[in-house]
This record gives sequence, structure tokens and C-alpha cells, in this order.
Amino acid sequence: MSPFTPKPTITGETVVLRPLVATDAQDLWDDVNDDEARRLTGTHADFTRDQIDRWCATRIDQDDRLDLAVVDRSDGAWLGEVVIHDWDPDNRSCGFRIALRSAARGRGVGTEATKLVVDHVLSDPEVNRVSLEVFDFNERARHVYRKVGFVEEGTLREALWWGDEPHDAIVMSILRREWRSG
Ligand SMILES: CC(C)(COP(=O)(O)OP(=O)(O)OC[C@H]1O[C@@H](n2cnc3c(N)ncnc32)[C@H](O)[C@@H]1OP(=O)(O)O)[C@@H](O)C(=O)NCCC(=O)NCCS
Repeated sequence: MSPFTPKPTITGETVVLRPLVATDAQDLWDDVNDDEARRLTGTHADFTRDQIDRWCATRIDQDDRLDLAVVDRSDGAWLGEVVIHDWDPDNRSCGFRIALRSAARGRGVGTEATKLVVDHVLSDPEVNRVSLEVFDFNERARHVYRKVGFVEEGTLREALWWGDEPHDAIVMSILRREWRSG
């Protein structure tokens, strides 16, 4: 049992975060094949549809991570996903990532979904730190993370090779004590 064994449904003002399930495979498949999303998330890997089907069907059974669909509160339409992963119980630390589909970007969804998941995770006293990596060219994501309370703490120099050139990855984190004071 970890803080991420129970799978929550989290309701915000305009979005709902709910567990990823088998029937989300088509939406996730569309998103993992979106060129701009692949660039922004530094995704080199190619997936088969079968891999995506199995991935979606098995997320609910994973004890040490949260894979949540971000859906529109008004009609349940898929907007993207948020993931809590790399749970390290000894150090009370986990990782975070988010990817919204292009039509959902730039209208407040990412800010709201990030806040909701951070609030959910850090409200568990077992979790002290949530961290993420973002590429230097992803100014929108960096702005959103800063707004939610993540702090830039270091640079993984030239950690990404994309478009015939190297790019830095920025490590950001939010700690329980900062979240409480925020
Ligand atoms: C990154 C992401 C989660 C942000 O969510 P979003 O819903 O698009 O963002 P929001 O609409 O909530 O907020 C965008 C903010 O960035 C600002 N912004 C937009 N473009 C910007 C830029 N080039 N530079 C700086 N700020 C920018 C907006 O003004 C807004 O800030 P404000 O609310 O203070 O005015 C989303 O765009 C996404 O999933 N992108 C594709 C995948 C990705 O990049 N994932 C992150 C990988 S680390």
C-alpha cells in the first residue's frame, strides 16, 4: 500500500481528474502520435496500438503511481493526462508529468489540473516532494509550474537531443513546507 494505491477522482472548477482506464486508449493513442506533444515532452519512443491498449488497461492496478485522465467537467471529454510516478517511499518523493492535447492548451486547463494533482498528492503526509523535468524551450510549461509553486532547482545540461541540436532540461520541485506556506 502506497499513497498512490487508492485511485482518486478529483473534481475542479472546469476539469475532473479520474483514473485512466482501457476505454481511454484511443485518446491516448491520438496524443502520443501528436508531433508537437512529442517535441514538448521529448518523446523519442514509438508505441504500438497494442502497447497503448495494454498500458491503459493496467494503470488502475499499479500501486506506486497515479495515471489520471484530465476530462472536461461539463461533458467528460478527454483533455489529456497527468501522471505521478517514480515514487520513492524512503525519501517521500515522487515525480509529476502532464500532457494536454493541443485543443486543450492555453485555456487554463494545465494550471488547474497541475494544482489539483499537487494538492491531492501533498495532502498525504507521506509525501514531501514532487519533482518534474521540463525542457528549456517549453516556456509555457515552465510558467505554469512556477505559478503553481514549483521552484527551478537545477539544469540537466543538454539532456535532450531534438531537431539536430541539444537542449537543457530544467529540474523543478515543490516541497510540502512550500505548499503549506503557499
Ligand atoms: C504545459 C501545459 C500542461 C500547460 O497547460 P495549459 O493549459 O496549456 O496552460 P494554461 O492555459 O493553464 O496556462 C498557460 C500560461 O502560460 C503562459 N504562456 C503561454 N505561452 C507562454 C510562453 N511562450 N512563455 C511564457 N508564458 C507563456 C500563459 O500566459 C498562461 O499564463 P497566465 O495564466 O499567467 O496568463 C500544456 O500546454 C501541455 O500539456 N502542453 C503539451 C505537453 C507539455 O508541454 N507538457 C509539459 C512537459 S514538461
